[in-house]
Amino acid sequence: MKDFLELAAERYSCRKFSNKPVEEEKIQKILHAARLAPTAKNGQPQYIVIVKSEEMRNRMKEASPCTFDAPVIFVMCGDVKDGWHDPYTGRSRAEMDVSIATTHMMLEASDIGLGSTWVCMMNPYKAHEILGLPEHIFPYCMLPVGYPADDARPSERHTSRREISEFTKEV
Ligand SMILES: Cc1cc2nc3c(=O)[nH]c(=O)nc-3n(C[C@H](O)[C@H](O)[C@H](O)COP(=O)(O)O)c2cc1C
Repeated sequence: MKDFLELAAERYSCRKFSNKPVEEEKIQKILHAARLAPTAKNGQPQYIVIVKSEEMRNRMKEASPCTFDAPVIFVMCGDVKDGWHDPYTGRSRAEMDVSIATTHMMLEASDIGLGSTWVCMMNPYKAHEILGLPEHIFPYCMLPVGYPADDARPSERHTSRREISEFTKEV
């Protein structure tokens, strides 16, 4: 069995997908990973739109240049009404909660042989309109998912990481 660091190192942003559809069972596993994610005060503000139809996947291109023609796009939203607000700034922490759920999903997708890319290059207002979301549901990012194309490769950024000493300070 793969250990966590092996999985984290293997995962890369996949931007080219095969036409093979993603099985419903795998979609459910990815959603289960989102369900298991920890959230502030267990508020569970994540709300996920699963975009599968060709029509809606094409429409999502109006909101983002980064759909990569993936067979499934998870649009990762948060309920900004229900999420926990920290008492110091009054800010909703829904974006953090949704980020953790997205991370879980990205790693689960990789673990079951699927590729994905976290996409923030998305007009949230356009996505909101296209998906017919209620006011209090805000789309933060997307996760296009599918089987990697035969010639899909990690970009050079995948192996470009700062040294631990460059982003830490011990006190
Ligand atoms: C918060 C976030 C936003 C990102 N947005 C985009 C995006 O809009 N388009 C894209 O092609 N990649 C996007 N990426 C992927 C990053 O470019 C990628 O993770 C980084 O270059 C490292 O490469 P790797 O994921 O292959 O290891 C995003 C990643 C994160 C974590």
